[in-house]
Amino acid sequence: MLADKKVCFLGAGAMAEAVLAGMLNKRIVKPGAVSITNRSDRFRLDELVYNFGVVADANQKDSSIQDADILILAMKPKDVHSALEEIRHLTNPNQLVISVVAGITTSFISSLLGHHAPVIRTMPNTSATIGLSATGICQGETATDEHLELAKHIFESIGMVVVVEEGQLDAVTGLSGSGPAYIYYLVEAMQAGAVKAGLEEHTARELILQTLIGAAHMLIETGEDPAALREKVTSPNGTTQAGLDKLRSYQFEEALVSCILRATERSKELGALLSESKS
Ligand SMILES: NC(=O)c1ccc[n+]([C@@H]2O[C@H](COP(=O)([O-])OP(=O)(O)OC[C@H]3O[C@@H](n4cnc5c(N)ncnc54)[C@H](OP(=O)(O)O)[C@@H]3O)[C@@H](O)[C@H]2O)c1
Repeated sequence: MLADKKVCFLGAGAMAEAVLAGMLNKRIVKPGAVSITNRSDRFRLDELVYNFGVVADANQKDSSIQDADILILAMKPKDVHSALEEIRHLTNPNQLVISVVAGITTSFISSLLGHHAPVIRTMPNTSATIGLSATGICQGETATDEHLELAKHIFESIGMVVVVEEGQLDAVTGLSGSGPAYIYYLVEAMQAGAVKAGLEEHTARELILQTLIGAAHMLIETGEDPAALREKVTSPNGTTQAGLDKLRSYQFEEALVSCILRATERSKELGALLSESKS
């Protein structure tokens, strides 16, 4: 699918590296067909050339952008405006533009480019670095289903992908974009409880991680509703019931629902601020 395509990354940070590594590990593109550019950090480009064998010559930045079939935007949201202003004359409507930049809409990217190149917007998460991202993707106005499939193929190299409407991407950000941090917080809290209950920290951690993995696999492999699985392991007046009652008394469910709604709202607020400050 990508065999004959040239890909150019604009931005060479952690997320660019995760996507690059995924694409190369899954062999969906050859290192020589990938170029990577940034604003000024030449040491970082040398590191990526050394580690991945990709093309990253600061002197060839313009031609790398001009010759690319696919441009991947991977700079911080605050840098999108200046980055696209700087390179818009090197881009054309036949290039596919894929963005991993949080909060920047496909229409805003099109307006900065000044033409109708197809734009696909994505929201991966940090687990991309180990190939286990949960990524939401959506298509901009001029992107076709074929463009979407191509982007999906790229992001499946760093985990699983769900296709959503652009209006749902803030909810994806609030759920799976920020989600790893919620799980880390859960692990911290379970660990604190386990230590108080008398376990060594490292023993608690091992047990918690295996419990998380086991529960996730149970959900995936049985396909059962989480409430049904929960009920199956909850005997009346047993230990699980006692623990769950305590969670309910602290409004566990309400806390998590509010967490996801607030993070979704914050994603909308940040997106609006970014579009406002640049228009
Ligand atoms: N990290 C995550 O888990 C995650 C998850 C979802 C989405 N994202 C999105 O991914 C994007 C990148 O995040 P990151 O963590 O990889 O950031 P990062 O490590 O700070 O990297 C940002 C990169 O952008 C480059 N850059 C800045 N201005 C540029 C310009 N004008 N032209 C070309 N490149 C430019 C920087 O180059 P210099 O170093 O030379 O300045 C740097 O290589 C963000 O928009 C973020 O919203 C990240």
